[in-house]
Formats: sequence, C-alpha cells, structure tokens
Amino acid sequence: MRSGEKLILGLIALSVVVVGGVRYWQQQGAGLQPGDRDLPFYSTADPQLAKEAGDLIRREGCRDCHSLWAVRNPLQAVPAPALDGIGSLHEEAWFYQYLSAEDPQAILPSRLKPEYRMPSYAHLSERERRVLAAYLASLKVEDWYLTQVKKAEYEALTGQPYRP
Ligand code: HEC
Repeated sequence: MRSGEKLILGLIALSVVVVGGVRYWQQQGAGLQPGDRDLPFYSTADPQLAKEAGDLIRREGCRDCHSLWAVRNPLQAVPAPALDGIGSLHEEAWFYQYLSAEDPQAILPSRLKPEYRMPSYAHLSERERRVLAAYLASLKVEDWYLTQVKKAEYEALTGQPYRP
C-alpha cells in the first residue's frame, strides 16, 4: 500500500473513532435519552426512574460492555448483548435476581473470557439494584421489530419464506 493510501485509510479510521466518541460523550452528558426516533426501542420508565438509573448506569460503566439506546463506549470491544429492548426478554424480578447474584454465570452461562463476563453487582445497595431492575424491565422493543428479526433469522436459517 502506498503511503498516500495509508494516510487516507488512517484518516477514515480516525474520523470513525472521533464521531463515535463524540456521540458517546454527548449521550453520556445528556443522560439517557430515548435517542433516535427511528429506533424500535422505547422505555416505559418515568423521568425520575430514568434519571436515577441513568446515573447508576454511567457510574457503573455498563456501557463499557453493553450498548443502550444504540450507544456504547467505542473504545471497548466486549461482545455483550445489547440492553435495548431487554425488558421484553425478562421480568423485573429476574433482573433483580441477576444483578444480586454473587455468580451471574450460574443464572446466565457465559462462553466469554472471564474479564468480559457480566460482573456481579451484589455489592450495590438494595435500592440501587431495585432501580436498575425496574429500569431494565422498562426497556421494551416494538413488536414489529421482533417479527422482522424473527423473519430474517428464519429465512436465513431455512431459506424458506417466513409465515407467522
Ligand atoms: C465487563 C463487561 C460488562 C459490564 C461492565 C456489564 N455487563 Fe452486563 N453482561 C455482560 C456480558 C458479557 C453478558 C452476557 C452474559 C455473560 O457472558 O456473562 C451480560 C449480561 C447482562 C444482562 C442479561 C442480558 C440477556 O441477554 O439476558 C443484563 C440485563 C446486563 N448484563 C445488565 C448490565 C448492567 C445493568 C450493567 C451495569 C450495572 C452491566 N450489565 C455491566 C458484560 C458486562
């Protein structure tokens, strides 16, 4: 590769990191926003819960590993599941139990390297775990999006058209 090409590739890589980083910091600064109107995700939390949970999520660095409102720390590469829409997957009581577990992998097994796995949040106060659990349970995904994902998966796996 010629040095001119390397420079251009370098500039492209740099702008990707800068744009991602700016978006991340803006979102972090603004607190948790329902973000893009086009996202199929929404929260049923009231502003007070969203604010309290948002502060905890920032303080505990959940976005170092997870994306939420499609935003995550661009400098980390942990393949953790996205939290967007996660409240359509589990109940509030499940989140509370999971966050309170000394060994979260006993509830949800992991094939990742130990340093990438979901840490225990048993050390947080009960109130903090309740706030996080309530907020996670409020994160919903629109039905049409789930249907679209199921359809795409079904068709990719079977090569057949999907009929719900
Ligand atoms: C070090 C990276 C890391 C951090 C930090 C982290 N998580 Fe996780 N989390 C994971 C991984 C990886 C999984 C998938 C299970 C596993 O591999 O242990 C997971 C799983 C979860 C799940 C279950 C997802 C599902 O698909 O059922 C929830 C909910 C969750 N995390 C919430 C949080 C919250 C809230 C925080 C911050 C308080 C947080 N996580 C911080 C890595 C992390």
